[in-house]
Amino acid sequence: MLQTGDELMYFSAVFVLVMLGTRSATWASLLTALLYVFMVMFRFPPVPAEQAGRVLRPGAPPGDVPVVAHRAGSHDAPENTLAAIREASRNGATGVELDLSFTADGVPVLMHDDTVDRTTNGSGPISKLQIVQLRRLDAAAHHRLKDKFSGEKVPTLQEAVEECIRHQLTIFFDVKGQADKAAAVLHEIYKKFPALYNSSVVSSFEPKVIYKMRQTDPNVVTALTHRPWRLSRFSDGTPRTLSTWGQLWTGILDILLDWAHHHILWKLCGVSAILVQKDFISLDYVQYWAERGVEVVGWTVNTAVEKDYYQNLLKIGYITDSLLEDCDPYY
Ligand SMILES: *[C@@H]1O[C@H](CO)[C@@H](O)[C@H](O)[C@H]1NC(C)=O
Ligand SMILES: *[C@@H]1O[C@H](CO)[C@@H](O)[C@H](O)[C@H]1NC(C)=O
Repeated sequence: MLQTGDELMYFSAVFVLVMLGTRSATWASLLTALLYVFMVMFRFPPVPAEQAGRVLRPGAPPGDVPVVAHRAGSHDAPENTLAAIREASRNGATGVELDLSFTADGVPVLMHDDTVDRTTNGSGPISKLQIVQLRRLDAAAHHRLKDKFSGEKVPTLQEAVEECIRHQLTIFFDVKGQADKAAAVLHEIYKKFPALYNSSVVSSFEPKVIYKMRQTDPNVVTALTHRPWRLSRFSDGTPRTLSTWGQLWTGILDILLDWAHHHILWKLCGVSAILVQKDFISLDYVQYWAERGVEVVGWTVNTAVEKDYYQNLLKIGYITDSLLEDCDPYY
């Protein structure tokens, strides 16, 4: 099997490297064995394939790929709101991607940014606002369709989950950080709504968040989010403004991080899917992961031409800002 081949190759590489470094077959054997034991002891097996399939390939008509509304569909309605969830469902999404955040008094809510400025009529970091203060804000304040959606509030995590279950939508919980808090809160919500084990996935750019989630509740379906060159370049591909050394260093880290994602991290965390920036996905790439039992989901796929490519050629699910029309990407 391919995975055994993979492992043989990595451990052989480690063996040879240590051998070259120490000139000792004993040390090389010992260190390679230790690394192997570490991987075996600390990795989480993925959830059963049938469970991952229920979440990642929900009962869409045969031949149709899953379509997930980014931040519940930020182009079609104010992002991360109950109205957006309803709108996504009405327009044929199979799922929604939602961003988890916390208020000053620790209430889990939906918010993408660290501050409330971009999406609401309030200002300042969300971590400084009490839930009662947050609830007074207008979550549609700066949306292009604000008149249609006026009075929309920032929902709590639980309200959003109930709305999604009501509409039979898959949920992609996007977690930015605060691994311990997020894992604890999500574990609670899964216990309260066990249907989530069959209809939602926890995803993050941070392997630590996913590892913590699996540690807290190994039955949760998880995914790693990945964008190659994330540390050295912005989402649109332009280099971050750094010194020459900064560029070189972040470039090297990017290469290591990319390698780790494809060879170690996915296995250590036991993820069922990898969510990858759309420009890096090809048929070969999908095949690479399929051989390892991992689904690929592309983001953010915002034009009809690209959607057609995902639906008919790649035949994998994607995350989009609009179910209705072409739009510019929001990363
Ligand atoms: C934001 O809008 C809501 C609803 O219109 C309003 O009640 C509230 O006072 C506004 N808050 C601020 C800080 O402007
Ligand atoms: C998930 O779905 C399977 C198959 O339909 C079912 O047997 C199982 O009880 C479900 N799990 C939960 C937690 O609802």
